[in-house]
Amino acid sequence: MGTRIESNSSLWALGFFFLHYYIQTIDIVACTLQAGLAKLIGLAGETNVQGEEQKKLDVLSNEVFVKALVSSGRTCILVSEEDEEATFVDPALRGKYCVVFDPLDGSSNIDCGVSIGTIFGIYAINDGVDPKIEDVLQPGKNMVAAGYCMYGSSCTLVLSTGKGVNGFTLDPSLGEFILTHPDIKIPKKGKIYSVNEGNAKNWDAPTAKYVEKCKFPQDGSPAKSLRYIGSMVADVHRTLLYGGIFLYPADKKSPNGKLRVLYEVFPMSYLMEQAGGQAFTGKQRALDLIPTKIHERSPIFLGSYDDVEEIKALYAAEG
Ligand code: AHM
Ligand code: MG
Repeated sequence: MGTRIESNSSLWALGFFFLHYYIQTIDIVACTLQAGLAKLIGLAGETNVQGEEQKKLDVLSNEVFVKALVSSGRTCILVSEEDEEATFVDPALRGKYCVVFDPLDGSSNIDCGVSIGTIFGIYAINDGVDPKIEDVLQPGKNMVAAGYCMYGSSCTLVLSTGKGVNGFTLDPSLGEFILTHPDIKIPKKGKIYSVNEGNAKNWDAPTAKYVEKCKFPQDGSPAKSLRYIGSMVADVHRTLLYGGIFLYPADKKSPNGKLRVLYEVFPMSYLMEQAGGQAFTGKQRALDLIPTKIHERSPIFLGSYDDVEEIKALYAAEG
């Protein structure tokens, strides 16, 4: 458990794995950029395991990722938001990495051309020969790498292998990702909060108090700006670069929030911590959570260190 990338050979293996990731990402970029033209927008006519309607691009991107990850020969278990059960890779193609991913996050933004993305986290196990579901039901702090790719005004890959966070931008003319944002550090405190305020009537007291403080600070500090895209990748990317806080809290209708622990909460929390920020569930450090099922959900508050400290203090005061 908790294996970190140490030896040159495992670094090489991970490099090889990311090469495959780049290739499949370029496929997805091509699909997302042409979605309107290639009749790829709209519903696929199915619902996924969470009971959510699947878009054509959700289904397509899941197929692209599963095929590329399996054929890389580096993976043994795959958990995708779009598949009810984990995929155990055929023994002949097994490697030692378990990959958890949301192939196309922010589906509600596909049809209107707003930024969407892919989120992923990677666990390494000692022996990929006999993988078990417990190998992915590990706390997020045990991940060896995590990241996301954002399909926006440019295609950006943000990645951490446990030694800081780096951002790469796709140069479509070369088909290569260029290191454009080395060693990303999130500002210690931010001026932006990001939350779906349409759920406010169902929030608990600490979340409601925190958002009230953002809008009407009592300590003479300026009010924060609200920015909410509704694609976690885009909202977290802005938070990482500009600072501030992203919240998807629990509410009376969704006591565990909306976002999924393994492939949304963990990878983004890992990146935040690696960039000097924090991630909190309302009860504990997000990366300490131990998931009990692959599609488990959790409330999440993540972003600048000082901003997350404030929400932690409000939950602590509530007892
Ligand atoms: P998805 O994985 O089905 O796209 O759902 C996750 C998305 C996140 O990108 C985003 O943070 C959240 O759902 C937005 O939810 P809401 O529309 O309730 O604000
Ligand atoms: Mg998602």
